[in-house]
Amino acid sequence: MRVHELAKEFGMSSAELLEKIQAMKIPAKNHASTLVEAYVDKIRKALGPEIAERQMELEAERLKQEAAEAAKRAIEEAAAARAEAERRAAEEAARNAEEEERKVAEEAAHKAELEADKARKEAEKVAAKEAEKAHAEAEAKRREDEAKQEAEERERYKRMAAEAEEAAKKSRDLIVEAAAAAAADGAKKGKKGKKPSGKHEPTEQAVGPKQAQTVQPVVDGVLTIAEGSTVAEFADAIGVPPNDVVKKLFMMGQPYTVNQPLATPLLDKLGEDYGLLVEVMAPGAELEEIIVDDPADLVERPPVVTVMGHVDHGKTSLLDAIRSTGVAATEAGGITQHIGASVVHKNGKQITFIDTPGHEAFTAMRARGANMTDIAILVVAADDSVMPQTVEALDHARAAKVPIIVAVNKVDKDGANPERVRKELSDRGVIPEEWGGDTPFVDVSAKKHTGIEDLLEMILLVAEVGELKANPSASARGTVVEAKLDRGRGPVATVLVQRGTLKVGDAVVAGTAHGRVRALIDPKGKHVHTATPANPVEILGLSSVPSAGDDFKVVVDDRAARQIAEERDLKRRLSEQLPTKDHMTLEDLFGKIQEGVQDLNVIVKADTQGSIEALRDSLAKLDQVEVRINVLHSGVGAITETDVMLADASDLIIIGFNVRPEPKAKALAEQTKVDMRLYRVIYKVIEDINAARVGMLKPTIEEQETASIEVRELFRVPKIGVIAGCYVQEGEVTRDDLVRVVREGTIIFDGKLHSLRRFKEDVKSVKAGYECGVGIENFQDLKEGDVIEAYKVVEVAREE
Ligand code: GTP
Ligand code: MG
Repeated sequence: MRVHELAKEFGMSSAELLEKIQAMKIPAKNHASTLVEAYVDKIRKALGPEIAERQMELEAERLKQEAAEAAKRAIEEAAAARAEAERRAAEEAARNAEEEERKVAEEAAHKAELEADKARKEAEKVAAKEAEKAHAEAEAKRREDEAKQEAEERERYKRMAAEAEEAAKKSRDLIVEAAAAAAADGAKKGKKGKKPSGKHEPTEQAVGPKQAQTVQPVVDGVLTIAEGSTVAEFADAIGVPPNDVVKKLFMMGQPYTVNQPLATPLLDKLGEDYGLLVEVMAPGAELEEIIVDDPADLVERPPVVTVMGHVDHGKTSLLDAIRSTGVAATEAGGITQHIGASVVHKNGKQITFIDTPGHEAFTAMRARGANMTDIAILVVAADDSVMPQTVEALDHARAAKVPIIVAVNKVDKDGANPERVRKELSDRGVIPEEWGGDTPFVDVSAKKHTGIEDLLEMILLVAEVGELKANPSASARGTVVEAKLDRGRGPVATVLVQRGTLKVGDAVVAGTAHGRVRALIDPKGKHVHTATPANPVEILGLSSVPSAGDDFKVVVDDRAARQIAEERDLKRRLSEQLPTKDHMTLEDLFGKIQEGVQDLNVIVKADTQGSIEALRDSLAKLDQVEVRINVLHSGVGAITETDVMLADASDLIIIGFNVRPEPKAKALAEQTKVDMRLYRVIYKVIEDINAARVGMLKPTIEEQETASIEVRELFRVPKIGVIAGCYVQEGEVTRDDLVRVVREGTIIFDGKLHSLRRFKEDVKSVKAGYECGVGIENFQDLKEGDVIEAYKVVEVAREE
């Protein structure tokens, strides 16, 4: 038995017992010391009487306490009983009082009723007299009001007229131009003997809105109507007799006939008067434009071709070879000017080449909404093989759904192996036609000019299959290929005409530039009067330099051009502050599936090819019934700006696996609202996609980057290990942050900070712009140039 156990039995402290034991000369060091049975007996005997006495004392104390408690309880019970009695008495009293009150109230009510009755009878008599008088007065007032109302109405119409007038002045009234265009359009259509005259689109821009008009012009009190609509059209749209509108206009001091087009301010005012909000589809509303050509107007046009491929595989050489061949074939000695696009001829047919090779430019244009290319030439050097950029170009062309022709280049070289190129590409699903697939392969040598004719023939063949057509008789529109400020000639833009015929003297808008076409110059440097679809031309006469990828179009006149350009400029500035397109995100995948979306298209960037394969496999194994998951592009290394552009252009989600976005890519993703997700374990990717599919994406545990730190120098400190001399580039790093070591875009370590110092002093945090010493727990392998990303893990609720 131990000392403390015995002490407990005796009801004394271990110390007290220990003292007594030691006084009895029994060996025991402390409360945990063990006492043999013989000693225990001896102690019991020796201390017996004392313990008994003590226990009696304790018992007595307990009894005393019990008694006291009982007494206290009794007192409390008595008090409770008293309180209950008092409560009952109070209740009784209250009941009595209530009864009394009720009786008094009843009596009072009865008396009041009698009195009210009397008063009512008297009042009725008086009222009858007064009503007579009031009626006479009201009649007089009504006449007066009517007169006033009439005056007010006149005043209102006068005011409306004034307002309309002013607004008309301000917004450079387009009636005249619209009417002119309508007339021109009508004349053209009339000549062709199509469509009896009647409703003419006043300008080509009205095509889209007009369609909306025939469908459902008024929705929720908003009237959507084309600019320059006539009185009759307006009346028709809102379902009132045209004469009603004519009358209103007349009262506004605007004598209009039913077939006259209305200026926008007048449309606004009229709508207001009918309680409608008017949305006039102005030329500036080009985003909504839907251009529908009559199939009878469509004629064959040349194909537009872009050349893509890996660095140094011969894109530029091939374009040069093609140009010289094509030019030589038609006009001996003709020298192509560099205008950003070129034109060659083969078998009496034309092919247009975009001169800026590479898929980056191609996708950048696409991200801006410009689709110029009909056919992509994928250049692969036969002495090299399929390279990362080859794959990237391939994926970009496929994402754009553009047919591909593979040009196997450099076949003249020793060690050239065109078969290997075919084999490697077919491993990626690009099967040569001669092997039963549907991609044409042509062996060429840009250097020796061999195979070029075959390539051109192949382009024409693919173009034929594509049945490329355009309407040359509409007013022209297209895309800016290239633009610059020329010292002598001012702003010069190369545009690719995609519809209609561009003519010298046309008023044009190109991006936010506008002007009248002073001269048109073709790729051979010749001045021309017109340019038809799929033809590139330089335009002189613009007010400023547009950007590559901007659209251009011909409008009624200079003033309209300037107005649209200004509107665009304003819109562009506004949209820079607003989120751009509504991209696919994991967050709203479920909603998109409900809307009928069937594909989730992703880009996968990872640290190794192995990771990509593993992730591909896992994605392929997912249930694909509701939504197919397609990896449209994959690659090893950091997420690049080009990746984000592709995601933006083709609405893809980016999955980064153990890699980070480059700073530019990150900024672009934020700006374009491309969903970019970074993972470190495969099952998390799968988990997220599965959850997103059923709309159950959990609140994400989000990493919040706190700082980006550059490693500049390394110090080896005995016993501690490697300390990195660092510079905080961005944010603020805190001592308890988690860190990730990134080398060339790939994460090589993920862990914790071990130490954070400034000048040998431990510090809690270091801000951007300061140097510091950083040690990382369990990681010694830092190198100069590494980036340490500091972050915190926080839980973010999912947005609904
Ligand atoms: P980047 O613009 O840098 O992406 O390269 P690119 O694809 O435009 O390649 P480029 O046309 O500049 O050609 C790269 C090199 O390959 C040059 O030295 C060319 O002379 C050479 N080259 C191109 N085509 C051929 C070919 O058919 N045969 C041989 N032997 N060399 C070629
Ligand atoms: Mg080049």
